[in-house]
Amino acid sequence: MSGLVNTCAHSSRLFLRSGWGALLLLALASLPFAPPATAQQRREREPNSVYAHRRAKLAATAEAPIILAGLAGREEDSQAYVFAQEENFYYLTGHNEEEAGLILLPPADSKAKKDDFQGPREIFFLPAKNPAKEKWNGVRLSPTDPDIQARTGFTDVRPFSEMRAMIEKLARFYPALYTILPYEKELGGYPHERETVDWLKMAAPQANLKDVRGNITDLRLIKSPTEIAFLQEAIDLSLEAHFVAFKMMRPGLWEYQVAAKMVEVHAMGGSEAEAYAPIVGAGPNSTALHYDKLSRKIEDGDIVVMDVGAQYSGYAADITRTIPANGKFTPRQREIYDIVLAAQNAALAALKPGADMCRKGKQSLYKISYDYINSHGKDQHGKPLGQYFIHGLGHNIGLDVHDPGDSCKPLMPGQVVTVEPGIYIPEENLGVRIEDDVLVTESGYELLSSKLPRTAQEIEKIMAEAAKQRPTEVKQ
Ligand code: GLY
Ligand code: MN
Ligand code: MN
Repeated sequence: MSGLVNTCAHSSRLFLRSGWGALLLLALASLPFAPPATAQQRREREPNSVYAHRRAKLAATAEAPIILAGLAGREEDSQAYVFAQEENFYYLTGHNEEEAGLILLPPADSKAKKDDFQGPREIFFLPAKNPAKEKWNGVRLSPTDPDIQARTGFTDVRPFSEMRAMIEKLARFYPALYTILPYEKELGGYPHERETVDWLKMAAPQANLKDVRGNITDLRLIKSPTEIAFLQEAIDLSLEAHFVAFKMMRPGLWEYQVAAKMVEVHAMGGSEAEAYAPIVGAGPNSTALHYDKLSRKIEDGDIVVMDVGAQYSGYAADITRTIPANGKFTPRQREIYDIVLAAQNAALAALKPGADMCRKGKQSLYKISYDYINSHGKDQHGKPLGQYFIHGLGHNIGLDVHDPGDSCKPLMPGQVVTVEPGIYIPEENLGVRIEDDVLVTESGYELLSSKLPRTAQEIEKIMAEAAKQRPTEVKQ
């Protein structure tokens, strides 16, 4: 939910040690115990030419070298941790293994190139081959692999241990270096970013460090055809999971059982991870936006918010449906449901390039949804319902479920965003959110999640048919 603190994705990760300082120290230390078997996410990649094109576009936006670090693989102290690359690094390389580095230089033929540095314009750094480690964790790409150029799409792949010397050399040619400066908005920034900056300051103390985050964000905003295909896979798996949840839902189930079934549908369909912790909130829990305890036994009369999305090849779907536990909305639940649905439809009707997700202004889709909600229905005290729409209307999705991007900037063709109005009335144990994913097109939008019904009538019909098929002993 845009406008909220992002509790999905990175901020929920427990970063302990990361960055190159720790990496170099650890490389020197001999390990007395078996290293933890860090599994890796299975992913399809985009063609190497796509990543190369992105790097070229990015390099052309900077007048100095861009230096980026991948994650080290020791970011969490958990045996269940599965390595997943830092998203900006992945976006530019498609590389999903530990301890990699990237240097991009301004293109030799660009106006931005003011130096007389004669070296390569991009260098990819990988850990040296380590057969002993591979016995535990499996094979990794390394600079000495005979096919490394074809596999990575880089013509210059070097051992990671040479990266610092290269930075020191570049710092003699360039007064500035670009990297991702720590993102201060949440929790004081991520440790990986801070440690990368600290490491760069050690390697090139005289360099003026500049932020390249915005340049990468601008590229990530517009999705490539392969990214849209991956997003569609993630969305389709999520729709299938929601459909299964519609059919299994009944009083007596636990919230965690519904979530478990949905996760199973994702995983069996090829999703390598959840896009975020599944939210299945029944009754009072329907009013907690990012409820993830999943500890309630679902009761007759509960309304159930299910905000559950798959990740596919790194790309995150974000889908919410709200359904009645017993298959039939109460009149009050139905009233609120229909207001949220109409608020979503009103925003969709106006969604096209130039509109935005800002809280105010003439092009604001949020305002369209808010105004609809605030002018329909009342709370128990006769007050309008706008006060219960407590989050933003939507956000970009992509490698992150809350992909970067300014919600006040006009939407552009090629963006993929959520549209997710909601009303949450704790006093009535009544929360409703409907969340769909749309591709912005030249003339309007394409609803990528159109296969999953949204109207109360269709949802009740699916649930009634499923209840009829259920064996007698579990009928309500
Ligand atoms: N699933 C988190 C959100 O809707 O933003
Ligand atoms: Mn969302
Ligand atoms: Mn969501």
